[in-house]
Amino acid sequence: PWVTLLFAVSLLHPCEAQGSRVTAVLVQEGEDLLLEAEYNNPEGFFIVWWRFNKTVNLVRFVPRIEPAVFPDFTGRIEFTGKGFSVKLKNLQLADSGVYTAEVGHYGGDRPLGDRPLGDRPLGDGTLAEYKVTVQAPVSPVKLSVVSVVSRSSASCDLTVNCSTQDSHISSTFTCVDGACSQEGGGGRSEVTTSGASLQVYLLNSSIVCHHSNQVHWTKDFKGTQHVCCQHAGSEAPSAGPSVYLVKIVVFSVGLIIMVAAVITVHLMEKLHKHK
Ligand SMILES: *[C@@H]1O[C@H](CO)[C@@H](O)[C@H](O)[C@H]1NC(C)=O
Ligand SMILES: *[C@@H]1O[C@H](CO)[C@@H](O)[C@H](O)[C@H]1NC(C)=O
Ligand SMILES: *[C@@H]1O[C@H](CO)[C@@H](O)[C@H](O)[C@H]1NC(C)=O
Repeated sequence: PWVTLLFAVSLLHPCEAQGSRVTAVLVQEGEDLLLEAEYNNPEGFFIVWWRFNKTVNLVRFVPRIEPAVFPDFTGRIEFTGKGFSVKLKNLQLADSGVYTAEVGHYGGDRPLGDRPLGDRPLGDGTLAEYKVTVQAPVSPVKLSVVSVVSRSSASCDLTVNCSTQDSHISSTFTCVDGACSQEGGGGRSEVTTSGASLQVYLLNSSIVCHHSNQVHWTKDFKGTQHVCCQHAGSEAPSAGPSVYLVKIVVFSVGLIIMVAAVITVHLMEKLHKHK
């Protein structure tokens, strides 16, 4: 008796019996979206159509007639030839929303082929449902060294700035004998005004600056050894002369004075001998 009952129910609701699934999709702006719907239409009088946000029609499939695209979506629909699946092209942020494939029939006995696009079918159910979120790709990031301060010949403090068009985070690393650690433990991260995530962290002796949302990411990185072994002057315009630079200058001046003294003494001796 259960089998009979189920059979009866499935006859009453031909569409729901085939199962409507909700699919959540994330799409990167500019990409295409495949909307898939299958339906066995043995009676040949059911209409299938895709709608956006339950209000805007995309495309209508009527048996034995070419599928028709509604004016709002002219040029944006590609037919896949598979069931009632279509490809929506070049998604924009405003295309975020719910896409449903509906099945239904027309009331009255006017022939299907005479039904204009504006004619509303009577809904019998939903074949497929997509919750679509379109996200823009994230902007490029730049990791720059703000300052390098040597504390001894083996250790230095390194401050970097990870920046995008509209936000930035900085972080300081302490390196001793080439082994670095990030101030405050793990990585530093921040959610940007556009909802993306901006992070600075240490990975395999590289400092990584990572910008990402759910559909796209960009990154920039620098090897810590490379930065710390260089003297600070070249990469730290705002940091003032470093200890290293001062040492070099003092050493050079000392050397010049010593050489000059030696030469002077030598010349004096020669002058004395001539006399
Ligand atoms: C479509 O619906 C979503 C929520 O489901 C809403 O955020 C979006 O603004 C709607 N888009 C249009 C064009 O109505
Ligand atoms: C980091 O970069 C941003 C954008 O380029 C800039 O506005 C900010 O002042 C920089 N911060 C530091 C500490 O250099
Ligand atoms: C880190 O370095 C190790 C050994 O050099 C390597 O096997 C691993 O893949 C690296 N990890 C990443 C994320 O690059």
